[in-house]
Amino acid sequence: MAINDFLHRRHHQGRQVISPGAWALVTGASSGIGLSLAHKLAERGMNLVLVARSQERLEKLADKLPVETEVLIADLSKATQRKSVAQRVRSKSLPIDLLVNNAGIWNFTPFVEMKQADLQQMISVNLLALVELTHAAVPQMVARSHGAVMNISSIAGFLPLPYEATYGATKAFVTSFSQGLYAELKESGVHVCAVAPGVTRTELHERSDGEEHVEDIPNMAWMSADEVAEISIKAVDRHDPLCVPGGVNKVMTAFLDVVPTPLARWTASKVNERRRD
Ligand SMILES: NC(=O)c1ccc[n+]([C@@H]2O[C@H](COP(=O)([O-])OP(=O)(O)OC[C@H]3O[C@@H](n4cnc5c(N)ncnc54)[C@H](OP(=O)(O)O)[C@@H]3O)[C@@H](O)[C@H]2O)c1
Repeated sequence: MAINDFLHRRHHQGRQVISPGAWALVTGASSGIGLSLAHKLAERGMNLVLVARSQERLEKLADKLPVETEVLIADLSKATQRKSVAQRVRSKSLPIDLLVNNAGIWNFTPFVEMKQADLQQMISVNLLALVELTHAAVPQMVARSHGAVMNISSIAGFLPLPYEATYGATKAFVTSFSQGLYAELKESGVHVCAVAPGVTRTELHERSDGEEHVEDIPNMAWMSADEVAEISIKAVDRHDPLCVPGGVNKVMTAFLDVVPTPLARWTASKVNERRRD
């Protein structure tokens, strides 16, 4: 770690963003990693704005949480609905201290078989919503010299993969965007963290009928949503720019750092081609 990164983190660690009474907005709070994050942030005393499409799930969650909550029903693939979430993010009366861009869509489909509408939906939710909400959040955070953005990426963003080309590219964008912003904002008191989980037991794979393509992934590689959420929160506390949860995922990404790119690409392609058969 560079010395000024270390000093920067020491300087800002005195003012923790994740703290009782502060407000977090979590997209995709209705299931999986977003749901676990909502529970864990509430355990830390944060008030929550819960965003997703599933009204019933969010209202049930809001009833259970021992903190102040707001439920915001929004389809983040739709520009007008992203705008209304961005409006809440910009609010000066109850400012958002932590923005969690977690909502995401995955699939494991040959590119030629994907419909334009599915591609647009994936890019809108995984990428456009994340950039627009970050753009809405950061000015008020910079003005207060306080705040953090947690962007949920994926280890799929570290290597181009067949059948996940668009998904992987959206996540490569998220990781690069987040780390660029981390560097740009680090003197401002605003922290940005990219979280890149590996396979996590959530509804993500069944939503796109992709379960059969992940079922041969060994048990040791899988993490629970609670584990990912806990590690991600600690990464924001520590002001890490990038968090790869779990030992197996860390080894995999370290492997990508040392192995020549053509070999890594060839190996990953073979793995995904076998998963597609
Ligand atoms: N699970 C994994 O193996 C894995 C691995 C690496 C990274 N990730 C990333 O982790 C994040 C969370 O995924 P997850 O695994 O927890 O999956 P999940 O259980 O399927 O949760 C996805 C969340 O995103 C919301 N969402 C989906 N489409 C939306 C839309 N159009 N508008 C608003 N919200 C929408 C869903 O809520 P509604 O359906 O109620 O709208 C849900 O709350 C994603 O960014 C994913 O790419 C997951």
